[in-house]
Amino acid sequence: MTETSENGVVCVVGLGKIGLPLAVQCALAGREVIGCDVAAGVVEAVNHGSAPFDSEQGLAEALRRVHGEGRLRATTDTTAAAAAASVIVIIVPVALTDSREVDFHHIDAATLSVGAGLRPGTLVVYETTLPVGTTRGRLAQLLQSASHLDAGTDFQLAFSPERVYSGRIFRDLARYPKIVGGVDSVSTEAALRFYQSVLQAEVRALSSAEAAEYTKLVETTYRDVNIALANEFALYAEREGLDAQEVITAANSQPFSHVHQPSVGVGGHCIPVYPYFLFSKWDDFRLPPLARAINDSMAAHGVDLLEEALGNLAGLHVLILGLAYRENVKESAHTSARKLSRELRHRGATVLGHDPLLTLEEQTALKIRPVSLSPLPEVDAVILQANHDAYRELDLSAFPGIRVVLDGRGAVDAQARQELAAKGIRTLRVGLAASLVGERE
Ligand SMILES: NC(=O)c1ccc[n+]([C@@H]2O[C@H](COP(=O)([O-])OP(=O)(O)OC[C@H]3O[C@@H](n4cnc5c(N)ncnc54)[C@H](O)[C@@H]3O)[C@@H](O)[C@H]2O)c1
Repeated sequence: MTETSENGVVCVVGLGKIGLPLAVQCALAGREVIGCDVAAGVVEAVNHGSAPFDSEQGLAEALRRVHGEGRLRATTDTTAAAAAASVIVIIVPVALTDSREVDFHHIDAATLSVGAGLRPGTLVVYETTLPVGTTRGRLAQLLQSASHLDAGTDFQLAFSPERVYSGRIFRDLARYPKIVGGVDSVSTEAALRFYQSVLQAEVRALSSAEAAEYTKLVETTYRDVNIALANEFALYAEREGLDAQEVITAANSQPFSHVHQPSVGVGGHCIPVYPYFLFSKWDDFRLPPLARAINDSMAAHGVDLLEEALGNLAGLHVLILGLAYRENVKESAHTSARKLSRELRHRGATVLGHDPLLTLEEQTALKIRPVSLSPLPEVDAVILQANHDAYRELDLSAFPGIRVVLDGRGAVDAQARQELAAKGIRTLRVGLAASLVGERE
């Protein structure tokens, strides 16, 4: 049988939180899969059939199964794996440098390793989010220089954005349309057929690799701008003696309104990062940079609310609950906890932190002093920054000395606020006017 994108060996380069579930998904669909990573520990774990992280629902069992059936193995030798594959999917990080330039060094290295083993007829797909034009430009050139083959002529090249949500990747892979776009029609068709052969979801072909790259930047930047609008609505609600959450929920009962919720900030390696991929190519964007600035200012606004409620923060102890960038992830990239901590320290407060999912080293790396919750530490205020499931049973009123809770995510419901108010503890929230705090309880 001739090897094609629909039946040959699949090589997945980058066995991280997104790449490993995708590799497992391809193996579950019956393909022989080779996973590649530069981290020897990751490769070793996969070759023992165990997941190197436990935050992904269903991954451990599925990995054990496909490993047991001999359909997934891992290696650090990307070049050899690429030479054995008919499809190569590359999904290693592209992030920002400290000066907010796009940092290509991981993907350049992965691309050169792949290029050195690339055979004619192979399909190469990038899933990592990229600035528009990177697949056909920078990465095609690296592949061509390492392989001495031509993209489109000798091998197929496409982009397909990864659109899943960490923690529920298998579910999302099964239901979100998979977008593909090649550097030419043959590449698009090969990518379309590959994903149709391994996913249950609809696979949608766009007109070009650039259209597929831009799709991911549009969907993430849309969310950043939407959140910034919600945050502006929140600031105005505070002025007008209103509750933005109540109003936004009511507004969204009209089918054309999809306003997100205000909060103390936007974290993670996607939403606060990908707008810069747009700005890297066109500095005439007006709305997305403003949205970025608004969202980055919300941590300071949250601290303003605390200061209004408690007076001068100097010498007070404030505990940040949840240092991850959002609930239930073991991931702290661009977390708002960092901005909150910086702002609190700037105003003289002592900042403590807790996160059940991050190791002590990971917490300390955020420059926040980690504390245990047994016994509960003495604090003046608690900020609920990431509402992990582990905090569901936590009685916020039990912290010795606590006077204020800043609900950073709109997560404390009316009943819990009422119970806190009955014990003399005020619950603040971005978008909830000071005059309403405690009033409805
Ligand atoms: N995690 C998410 O929620 C998420 C969401 C949207 C998009 N993404 C996309 O997925 C990409 C990867 O994210 P992730 O969360 O899987 O990252 P990750 O950090 O969990 O994993 C990346 C893996 O790539 C490996 N790697 C780095 N350089 C390599 C190389 N040269 N060769 C082989 N392996 C290499 C690392 O060792 C690591 O295991 C992101 O850059 C982004 O484009 C992720």
